[in-house]
Amino acid sequence: MPSSADPGSADPGSATRQATPSQVGCYPDLAGKVVLVTGGTGGLGAPLCRALASQGAHVAVAGRQRAAVLALAAELGRPALAITADCTMPDQVQAMRDELTAALGPPDGVVCLAGGAIISAASGRPGTPHQQPVTPHQRPVTLHQWDTVLANNLTATFLTVTAMVPLMRERGRGTVVTVASAAARIPSAASSPPYAAAKAGVIALTRQLAREVAPDGVRANCVSPSVIVTATNAPAGERLDQLLRQHPLGRLGTPADVTAAVLFLLSAASSWITGVTLDVAGGRTADLPIEPEPGQKRKHDEPSPYRIERPSRGGHASRAGRLRGNTRPYRRSRCHQRVHGERRTAQASAVLL
Ligand SMILES: NC(=O)c1ccc[n+]([C@@H]2O[C@H](COP(=O)([O-])OP(=O)(O)OC[C@H]3O[C@@H](n4cnc5c(N)ncnc54)[C@H](OP(=O)(O)O)[C@@H]3O)[C@@H](O)[C@H]2O)c1
Repeated sequence: MPSSADPGSADPGSATRQATPSQVGCYPDLAGKVVLVTGGTGGLGAPLCRALASQGAHVAVAGRQRAAVLALAAELGRPALAITADCTMPDQVQAMRDELTAALGPPDGVVCLAGGAIISAASGRPGTPHQQPVTPHQRPVTLHQWDTVLANNLTATFLTVTAMVPLMRERGRGTVVTVASAAARIPSAASSPPYAAAKAGVIALTRQLAREVAPDGVRANCVSPSVIVTATNAPAGERLDQLLRQHPLGRLGTPADVTAAVLFLLSAASSWITGVTLDVAGGRTADLPIEPEPGQKRKHDEPSPYRIERPSRGGHASRAGRLRGNTRPYRRSRCHQRVHGERRTAQASAVLL
């Protein structure tokens, strides 16, 4: 369990404090760069905007709540810009582009953070991934919810990059950072089908975009966080213990972890990186085999929370088995013997096809 000083503790106060340069890195080339952050007022967006401003970037904060974007932009000081826009609405995204270019100039960087998991039937406002542990069986996803989550995460990203990337291509430079989620890869009861599908779509969209704009000197990468502790997303109790066990590094993420990844991908330090999805996930998505401590015996049949155990076939020691120290001599399967021996049969040849 982390102590209260740990960055991954479930103390929302510690999670939202201003990140230090030692936590997020220092990128002098970001000074004077124009960076648009959609979802800039959120639990991840606001710390990112503050970190960008402290690196000298000219930040445009975009969100749907006028008061929130104004307050944050005022806190960042000049030059910073508050833009009120719903990124699911094409006309509002076009207006966002016009407002940005008129006030700060064309963007050098665009960060698409606007989005969220689900599903508050009461307000219709998306929450953060682990606030509402519902499954489709407990509370079926309605088409409206499906559309809303797809729109806020995938359509919003699509419309934003569609509006902003031409400005980058014209100048032959620029970087896009989209934001997916570990939910795109790891099904969980705390996530939902539309959120998982939307974030998987964000990853695919980013890769396609990267392919299309690379010849023009524009880069596009995706940051994919697992559970990040924010003021509105602070798991506790049994849920926290369960989540900690799912993250091999033994803590949950902080906004500074996401900020560090985004700053790196926006900066010249990543100038030869495009089309990647950078997991900010404490090892949760890395399929890390867990070895026993020295002197600690581990039952071979004990399931690992970090790995899907697959049964070995035909006498092969599985990779997982070998990692557990299974040194059983390699034994060829009967099919293998047939294919490579003289007793090759029609059935075995069919296997080759
Ligand atoms: N926190 C996590 O554990 C976590 C993990 C994985 C991925 N993520 C992703 O990271 C991003 C930010 O998450 P967060 O924790 O910062 O969530 P958050 O605190 O709920 O913030 C979401 C932000 O997105 C904005 N937004 C939502 N829909 C929008 C729309 N249609 N148009 C414009 N702005 C919109 C919200 O603005 P309003 O003020 O107008 O609502 C808010 O600023 C999301 O895409 C989320 O899916 C978060």
